[in-house]
Amino acid sequence: MLHRVDFFPEEAGHTPKKMLRERPTIHPTCKIIDSQIGSWTALGPNTHFHEVVFGDYSYTAGNVSISYGSVGKFCSIANSTRINPGNHPQWRVTQHHCTYRRAQYGFDTVEDEEFFQWRRDHYCVIGHDVWIGHGAVIMPGVTIGHGAIIGAGAVVTKDAGPYEVVAGIPGKVIKRRFPEHTANQLMEIAWWDWDRKTLEARFREFMDLEAFIEKYHRHTKAL
Ligand SMILES: CC(C)(COP(=O)(O)OP(=O)(O)OC[C@H]1O[C@@H](n2cnc3c(N)ncnc32)[C@H](O)[C@@H]1OP(=O)(O)O)[C@@H](O)C(=O)NCCC(=O)NCCS
Repeated sequence: MLHRVDFFPEEAGHTPKKMLRERPTIHPTCKIIDSQIGSWTALGPNTHFHEVVFGDYSYTAGNVSISYGSVGKFCSIANSTRINPGNHPQWRVTQHHCTYRRAQYGFDTVEDEEFFQWRRDHYCVIGHDVWIGHGAVIMPGVTIGHGAIIGAGAVVTKDAGPYEVVAGIPGKVIKRRFPEHTANQLMEIAWWDWDRKTLEARFREFMDLEAFIEKYHRHTKAL
């Protein structure tokens, strides 16, 4: 016999039916270190952030790890995505992390801050309205343009341009989401910067790309 089940423990804080709100909705299993998180955001189970700036309306599904990076507004980050997995010092005698997590191993009183700064310098930048598919890895120092799509399972080693669709290992452009002209118009409109009231008023117009550009691109141009 099958039982119809809907099971979302109250403390999970991240359920399909729960209303999001201006304050970030963060699953209790998340670990967030030194990060800034925007409004109307939702972080799924086991999301780990280390020095991350995470824009309004963006969300992580679960098991997502991001270090030293920024994610724009309205980004969709699927399960098991990793953004900026840290490289090890392959040039040292040993690449084991004891050479930089020195204090942790009792080899020094402080960690190797210079090494962590090197990691920090390989910052990842994810634009607005980016969709990152299941299990994708965005390698250190990579920038993903606004509106891009990263396919499931991709390992992205080079920058992706705006509205490009990148997939595979290593990630390659397989198509564009919109032609360049349309992409440029959307970036000029920069709807992701509209305030909440404006978004509410214009929300239904997001369903019709042509009418949206016709109306708001002309308006933007006239400003
Ligand atoms: C990248 C993606 C958006 C492309 O979807 P699409 O526009 O419908 O593209 P198609 O399925 O027509 O695929 C186009 C080509 O790319 C290939 N391709 C599609 N996705 C791919 C991927 N993730 N990795 C490698 N190749 C991929 C297809 O095999 C096809 O190749 P072909 O032209 O040689 O036949 C989609 O395949 C994808 O990966 N979605 C992510 C889904 C996901 O992870 N969701 C999690 C919940 S948010």
